Amino acid sequence: MSVDANRSERDKRWYGRRFGRKLSAARQRLVDELLPQLRVNPAADDGARNPVDWFDPSISEIRMEIGFGAGEHLAGQAAAHPGVGFIGCEPFVNGVAALLDQINRQDLSNIRIFDDDVRLLLPSLPDGCLNRMDILFSDPWPKTRHHRRRISDPGNLVQFARLLAAGGELRFATDQVEFASWTLERMLRNTAFEWLARRPDDWTRAPTDWIETRYQQKARARGLGTTYLRFHRRRREDV
Ligand SMILES: C[S@@+](CC[C@H](N)C(=O)[O-])C[C@H]1O[C@@H](n2cnc3c(N)ncnc32)[C@H](O)[C@@H]1O
Repeated sequence: MSVDANRSERDKRWYGRRFGRKLSAARQRLVDELLPQLRVNPAADDGARNPVDWFDPSISEIRMEIGFGAGEHLAGQAAAHPGVGFIGCEPFVNGVAALLDQINRQDLSNIRIFDDDVRLLLPSLPDGCLNRMDILFSDPWPKTRHHRRRISDPGNLVQFARLLAAGGELRFATDQVEFASWTLERMLRNTAFEWLARRPDDWTRAPTDWIETRYQQKARARGLGTTYLRFHRRRREDV
């Protein structure tokens, strides 16, 4: 195997944690019984297929949240937009169980779950199949030698651009100023994206439909503000 092949295998390794505290009996039941009904399993499919097929036929707009944590933003968005289909990606089992609890209590029918590393799902999805991607407080990997693990790594941005429909939106939020500018720099270098900032203080203002996440609340309690970055996916013919 070449050095490059080794490097790309290493970059694809999963570095986060999968399990936390033991689940309550009720949440374990949701993982055992409800998750299999909502789980997206690209390995079970014959090649790429359109995610709209995973939802009720009345749904034509699809959004994805990557690394939804405990799922409060995802569940809130799904409740506010019952006509939109949401794909949540999160390998941390306790977070998935927390989302399932909200789906169950609020009787949400427009969420599907990929409970693994999102990079395993994305290549199987067809071009332009997503209308929005939300990446909220993803792991900042502060050490320089770990930067290539960041979700906003240029290789992942190419994949996000492929999957977003023209006019679609990518939202990125973080409490780490250096991570925000690192990401902005790479987003601006990718010609598929246009930064939606309209005012000098744009990145300090939450989008109007914003729902605070658990991570964000904890960061605020430690005195850390949020940087909000929003990007428009340009039409393919304009890139
Ligand atoms: C710092 S937490 C933030 C969680 C949530 N967005 C919030 O704001 O509360 C980052 C989350 O991203 C998830 N994550 C990291 N890498 C991921 C990947 N490759 N695919 C899917 N989720 C990932 C982690 O498991 C973790 O739950």
